[in-house]
Amino acid sequence: MRYIGNKTRLLPFIMDTLADLGISPGAAHDACAGTAAVGRELKVHGWRVASSDIMTYSHVFQRAYVVLQRVPSFAELRAGDPELRRALRSPRFREAAARRGTGALAPVCEYLARWLEPRGGFIASHYAPARGAGRMYFTDENAMRIDAIRRRLDEWRTEGLIGDGAFYLLLAALIEGADRVANTAGVYAAYIKSWQPNALRPIDLVPLVPTRGAKGSSAYLGDAEQVAGDLGPVELLYLDPPYNARQYTGYYHIPEIIARGWFDTVPVIAGKTGLPRVADRSLRSAWCSAGRAEQALRGLLAASGARHVLVSYNSEGLLDASVLEAALRDASVDGRTRTFTREYRRYRADRDHINRRYRADGLRELLYYAKLR
Ligand SMILES: C[S@@+](CC[C@H](N)C(=O)[O-])C[C@H]1O[C@@H](n2cnc3c(N)ncnc32)[C@H](O)[C@@H]1O
Repeated sequence: MRYIGNKTRLLPFIMDTLADLGISPGAAHDACAGTAAVGRELKVHGWRVASSDIMTYSHVFQRAYVVLQRVPSFAELRAGDPELRRALRSPRFREAAARRGTGALAPVCEYLARWLEPRGGFIASHYAPARGAGRMYFTDENAMRIDAIRRRLDEWRTEGLIGDGAFYLLLAALIEGADRVANTAGVYAAYIKSWQPNALRPIDLVPLVPTRGAKGSSAYLGDAEQVAGDLGPVELLYLDPPYNARQYTGYYHIPEIIARGWFDTVPVIAGKTGLPRVADRSLRSAWCSAGRAEQALRGLLAASGARHVLVSYNSEGLLDASVLEAALRDASVDGRTRTFTREYRRYRADRDHINRRYRADGLRELLYYAKLR
């Protein structure tokens, strides 16, 4: 998913740095997991990962990509859903599913994305033009598909036709699929007032296939410091906090609503972008405040039982390098920190232009290391 601070392109840098430091796999805490890209990679390299984040969509990604080890069989679903069974009897359906690949996941994705009847719900009512106060986050058709898929996932889970693993895997695919057809410049703080080519494509579900890794990874929905305290001793704390004032809660409110659903508590939203009217204070991160970020770092380092800490931070962050290094030094066993640097080209959406264009600029990504025990 397009995500501020997504480290997918920096995974080789992070893994190389761990190798340079001679740190071998054990238990790791990916404290601000976001898309779960780092936790997933650590797991593939043999780490037992505990990941955390305050956002529910991140929790969905963590459950799908870090906790889940294999594609579920979907046997109960095939046995229990007559509509899916009917679809499976159709040669046209089976051909379309086969084009998605082999295995149990392909027909389920084909069914959700293409066979399920679009049906208005919360997303169509609030984030698509016909009924959604003119908001143009999704076309009406895509919004109704998101609604229908989200509702069906909930029904399947409530009826016991899918377990947690399948639920999170499919929900992660829905959030990613919706992001690909969102009529935005990358974040949900605003929609674009004319349809972008990506928004006009029909939504699809293309799940990331779960990877096997060390057993026993876990995911926590909560504050990094709190989770670190609960986890106790671990080998590695990997920390990739927000580095500027942009609160993720305001930039990704729609993925958050899709992740939470609207079946138990209907969100009350308002304003041009349809933000939840009552801001959830627990989602406002101290890391996004120049005055509170240092305390958040010191508090987390004090709470963590990690032997090593590796912090991703970039050259434009709210925390000065000197402040960050001082906090790490104070928490370390030997009063030392080490810094690793890699230059990379970042592509930014040019928001002012109707046809989304990207311009590249240089950015220095930094990794700070300290030995805590
Ligand atoms: C830079 S992003 C992490 C990106 C991630 N490494 C990736 O590759 O996608 C920062 C994340 O920190 C989360 N966050 C902010 N405050 C937090 C807190 N107090 N505890 C845990 N996570 C927090 C945000 O929700 C966001 O997902």
